[in-house]
Amino acid sequence: MNNKQRIRLIITIFLMPLMASAQKKTISQRVDSLLRLMTLDEKIGQLNQYSGKQVTGPESKVKTDLINDIRNGRVGSMLNVKGVKDTREIQAVAMQSRLKIPLLFSLDVIHGYKTVFPIPLAEAASWDLDAIRLSAHIAAKEAAAAGIHWTFAPMVDIARDPRWGRIMEGAGEDTYLGSLIAVARVKGFQGEQLGGTDAVMACAKHFAGYGAAMAGRDYNAVDMSEHQLWETYLPPFKAAADAGVATFMNSFNTLNGIPATGNSYLQRNILKRKWNYQGFVVSDWGSIGEMVPWGFANNDADAAEKAIKAGSDMDMESRTYKSYLAKLVKEGKVPEALIDDAVKRILYKKFELGLFDNPYKFSDAKREADVLNDGGHKTIARNVARKSIVLLKNQGNVLPLTKSKTKIALIGPLVKSKRDMDGSWTVNADTTQITSLYEGVKGKLAKKTELLYEKGCNISGNDKPDFTEALRIAGQADIVVMALGETWDMSGEAKSRTNIHLPGQQEALFNAVKATGKPVVVVLMAGRPLIFSDIAAKANAIVYAWWLGDEAGNAIADVLFGDYNPSGKLPVTFPRNEGQIPLGYTYYNTGRPVKNPENIIYKSAYIDSPNTPQYAFGYGLSYTSFSYTDLTLSAAKMHHTDNVTVSFRLTNTGKYAGEEVVQLYVHDEVASVVRPVKELKGFQKVFLKAGESKTVSFVINKEKLSFYNSKLQWAAEPGNFEIMIGTASDDIKLTAEMELL
Ligand code: BGC
Repeated sequence: MNNKQRIRLIITIFLMPLMASAQKKTISQRVDSLLRLMTLDEKIGQLNQYSGKQVTGPESKVKTDLINDIRNGRVGSMLNVKGVKDTREIQAVAMQSRLKIPLLFSLDVIHGYKTVFPIPLAEAASWDLDAIRLSAHIAAKEAAAAGIHWTFAPMVDIARDPRWGRIMEGAGEDTYLGSLIAVARVKGFQGEQLGGTDAVMACAKHFAGYGAAMAGRDYNAVDMSEHQLWETYLPPFKAAADAGVATFMNSFNTLNGIPATGNSYLQRNILKRKWNYQGFVVSDWGSIGEMVPWGFANNDADAAEKAIKAGSDMDMESRTYKSYLAKLVKEGKVPEALIDDAVKRILYKKFELGLFDNPYKFSDAKREADVLNDGGHKTIARNVARKSIVLLKNQGNVLPLTKSKTKIALIGPLVKSKRDMDGSWTVNADTTQITSLYEGVKGKLAKKTELLYEKGCNISGNDKPDFTEALRIAGQADIVVMALGETWDMSGEAKSRTNIHLPGQQEALFNAVKATGKPVVVVLMAGRPLIFSDIAAKANAIVYAWWLGDEAGNAIADVLFGDYNPSGKLPVTFPRNEGQIPLGYTYYNTGRPVKNPENIIYKSAYIDSPNTPQYAFGYGLSYTSFSYTDLTLSAAKMHHTDNVTVSFRLTNTGKYAGEEVVQLYVHDEVASVVRPVKELKGFQKVFLKAGESKTVSFVINKEKLSFYNSKLQWAAEPGNFEIMIGTASDDIKLTAEMELL
């Protein structure tokens, strides 16, 4: 190391943390000084968040009232105001307020701002943390260029019920994978440090338990053991908090009888005390007021009191804080110190973003134009989209398709669809940018190659459609590619379904086309795991494409023609039928496990369905094949302070270069609390050329063997562990035993 490097090292190790803490002090001091100047009304003003649809619309009484509230310092944040022009205009009103406290502009930038990326569940199927982080970064960059400071993402709710429409917005069923994806997304949105004009504040939502809404019905109650809460649902939130997520959002559901919004166990005890979280908590839309119909608060005033006491810092659209908090403080029901704490948390973020130095920092017209027209974003979106595709079946290697000499018939209601490709939660999408599957396939073929097309049927509705034309073109083709699934608005918020089969007549269309005897490749597009038993049994190939965003058509065509070798793996279990739900891979053995599927009498089984899913968590095929051999453990026994290295040889035994997601699962054989049959504890996405081979290693330490024991302490218990390496949760290739001493 030369002198220059030595000095740089000293600065990094010693001076940077000091400088960071000095800057922190400065912000804290600035917050305190500002707070001293604020009246109670101005403080409460910071705790209100309004939706801005009307504030930028035509003149109306609502608009006048809102503008007056902003001018009088009664609003801390606006949601749904976007674009440099509008954010500038509204921020200018805030600058007329007595203390000139800037507004925070927030928006649901869930999977892209202008460039729409795959829905979050699809991206989770990539198991590619760098790609996921980059996707969030581009979304943040575009949003920040359009005046946005804060996105209500990522949703880090673990979801194990595909009836729940919001399963599309998260990372799937697994706590380990979900926690890593939560961190990737937070870092992608926020960048290294808040304040960059290519980053926005992230928001870990919905705290907590929302994904476990009873019977998969949105906004429903949640009832779960403490054990389940700590082991399955809280870790992604903790991971997001540790990664520095700027804000949390609470949730609509109750948790064991207490609405999350009025839940001080969650927000005060766990989040703010135990985890020492310094950011702020925003309520979900109207969730403070909703504690009244829940039967937890007498009226809006009571709801406001319960929410602020429980640790909800900002009121999104209930207007209960605005209407009642001042009175509650004056009556002595709410200590002013609680208001001060909430205000400080919010002001701190405004300082960190640099808004006090320049309230228009994010509202620069030139940057908006440059960033939103950056053609490179499309290329990134296409790359993320093709990584998100999961190949479920490829009988006789019908895929990849050849580009020449093959007559293809494209059949199905989603072949030419554009809007559906973007899925739910788009905030500024430009539908003219979307590539349909038809366009994607056409783009791969020589100009004069004939491409047959027929819609076949609609997605919704049960009118008997006429399949004649579809069957006619199927008869003329060498191969049929069908595009089937849901419309964009069949999953997402408030889109729970009891029947998650393919809607309408689509499966009938498939069966009719299949009966022509032509090979059929089915591309399924949806915002959730669907049930499609006939297709699973009879299709020659199945490509699960979710909703892939603007570049959907190109990305799917890349996979269909082998320009990209699929590498996605399911982040969530696909059941065979609705009766199996909730179904996941972390199930328990029970006292009566089914060992022989033929003999299920008095076993933990169904008499009308297997226990196993249609497709298991972690499953996904490639155009090449991989072999797993030579498992070794560096030791068969370890003490709590040791590490054991698990290694094996991965070989690409097929004809194509490709990536394999190798998965490490662990099973604690006997414990003070019964453990699932397996739990994901590591994975790697490994690229190998055809014929290439690599040694892959995972390190097992105490952490990987720990769980919440019978006293709810995170600990590893001595005993035997099964170590499993697999290509899917139900396709374990190598196993070994080890002992924790
Ligand atoms: C959703 C939140 C979202 C908020 C603001 C609510 O209905 O549950 O996830 O961030 O609306 O749009």
